Amino acid sequence: MKKIAVLTSGGDAPGMNACIRAVVRTALYYNIDVYGVERGWAGLIDGNLTRMETRSVSGLIHKGGTFLKTARCPEFVELEGQRRAAETLAAYGIEGVVAIGGDGTFRGAVDLSNNFGVKVVGVPGTIDNDLAYTDYTLGFDSAVNTVLWAMNNLRDTMTSHDRVSLLEVMGRRCGDIALYAGVAGGAEYVLVPEVPYDLDEIASSIRKSRMRGKTSNMIILAEGAGNREEICAAIRDKTGIDPKVTVLGHIQRGGSPTMSDRILAGKFGVKAVEVLREEKDSCAVGIRNNKIVTVPFPDVFSAEKRFDKSLYETSKILGL
Ligand code: F6P
Repeated sequence: MKKIAVLTSGGDAPGMNACIRAVVRTALYYNIDVYGVERGWAGLIDGNLTRMETRSVSGLIHKGGTFLKTARCPEFVELEGQRRAAETLAAYGIEGVVAIGGDGTFRGAVDLSNNFGVKVVGVPGTIDNDLAYTDYTLGFDSAVNTVLWAMNNLRDTMTSHDRVSLLEVMGRRCGDIALYAGVAGGAEYVLVPEVPYDLDEIASSIRKSRMRGKTSNMIILAEGAGNREEICAAIRDKTGIDPKVTVLGHIQRGGSPTMSDRILAGKFGVKAVEVLREEKDSCAVGIRNNKIVTVPFPDVFSAEKRFDKSLYETSKILGL
């Protein structure tokens, strides 16, 4: 393969810039021409491509967001959108694409590959860690560290006022951000979509902890695991304590990527280009048991959702 393109699509995640950089530099290392596509699949449809040189990706490794920009692209779900994208690629003589993003990005990759024979390699880039075929997605570690930063700050003020704090974090329907941050940040209660919880039990546990001399409590609530107002109302009714709510929101999506995400970005980027260079079938790269792997798209989508029950049990034991 002599010409490839790289794009980021869907929600941005820290480490995407580092991964684009890795793709560009690896391609140039193998004497492959490489184009950056602006705004994901939308940029392929509209023909927004720029030839990348090694200097095009200088000074980016430490930056959050994606300098290629990103978008969610409903037109790409339609065959017509995919056709226009394939035509753009043909016009440039581009034979392969590295698509960095989450579930929606991968579905677009499969469509482009199946319907128009374009070789696409997916790189899992999302803070949610919700792609079951890979142990970790790019951006997850950075997002968890951002949550930890918020937890540390919250803890200072909650301890000073003897308060109960509820911190809502992102994750779509996946509780991993809440779970990892909960354990690493010492939250007393971790509420995730994967495990049912009992608000009476939580309220009674808060009451008992106060009787034992504990003066503040932290609840981490994952997106998709319940309504924060209802949770607070139940705790207020049963304990007389009014929890203070913080919704962290898009702060979790930004910021400088952590060491782990930068390394992962580098390894994913190199592997993605090597797969295209060897003209292998479209697939996704991932990491399993600390090894970089390639997984065919059908297996990416059929992989069973895994939730780390043992880490969840750890959170319960340590949150006592
Ligand atoms: O997939 C990343 C994510 O941040 C989710 O955690 C969240 O549900 C969603 O994207 C938010 O999307 P948007 O930025 O479009 O509001």
